Amino acid sequence: MAVFFLVLISNRIILAQTKNMQQGPIGVFDSGYGGLTVLKELKAKLPQYDYLYLGDNARAPYGTRSFESVYEYTLQCVKQLFEMKCRLVILACNTASAKALRTIQQNDLPKIDSSLRVLGVIRPTSEVVGNHTKTNHVGILGTSGTIASLSYPIEIEKFFPNIKIFQEACPMWVPLVENNEFENEGADYFIKKNISHLLSQSNKIDTIVLGCTHYPLLIKKIKQFLPSSIQLLSQGEIVATSLMDYLKRHNEIENLCSKNGTCTFLTTDSSGNFDEHAAIFFGENIRSSHWNLTSH
Ligand code: DGL
Repeated sequence: MAVFFLVLISNRIILAQTKNMQQGPIGVFDSGYGGLTVLKELKAKLPQYDYLYLGDNARAPYGTRSFESVYEYTLQCVKQLFEMKCRLVILACNTASAKALRTIQQNDLPKIDSSLRVLGVIRPTSEVVGNHTKTNHVGILGTSGTIASLSYPIEIEKFFPNIKIFQEACPMWVPLVENNEFENEGADYFIKKNISHLLSQSNKIDTIVLGCTHYPLLIKKIKQFLPSSIQLLSQGEIVATSLMDYLKRHNEIENLCSKNGTCTFLTTDSSGNFDEHAAIFFGENIRSSHWNLTSH
């Protein structure tokens, strides 16, 4: 009997120690700045957690890159976040979610450590689209990679088979945002062109998903070219609500998330540039550090 209690107590101590040892920040990854629009909402809805943001600005944009490149870059960054003690990583990038998430979840995680988790932004968005549309005609705006992957039509079909999806790739929008040209006149040409291509596919579209985490910065301009009856869905709040729900349902993951309310920022490019631009996306000034890709 005494031996039984001794084993029980020592097991509990080991479990508690392991839990403490394994706790780490929630990793948030994007090709560049866009994921900061998601992190901003995560921080607002779930302020108790620690977050570690990694922007692969040196290789952004991902939107026009091949499947292989997006997968290879995303995996490298996810592994780095795991090395920095993240147990849960959010791909706050539609392009990475579309082109790399499934392979990482199915092939890489079991080899790295099956207790680790990587989640994307396309599924949580797809899960709620049907709560917004009345006409069941929904538009998707995204990078060339996201649109060509057909990830949105495939995912939305699973939850709302009656919804008709109309897609439009906007390859110039991320470069406009990344280069801080998004409020200038030059942006109008591309935004107007892509919006009218999308709307020409159906006059019943009543909901448009901004399927790229960079696009919330373009909302003002996009609205100029849209009838006011069409609603725009940005992902930040949707992803934050979905994560809150996920953590409630997955105690084993929630226990691994450290809770000091901190945000740490890493970029693969110049940290000075990152800090200068990041405030526009994040809504407050930040200080980032450089993570050197070439040494990995
Ligand atoms: N924020 C990324 C997304 O949601 C932008 C992709 C890119 O780098 O082109 O798709």
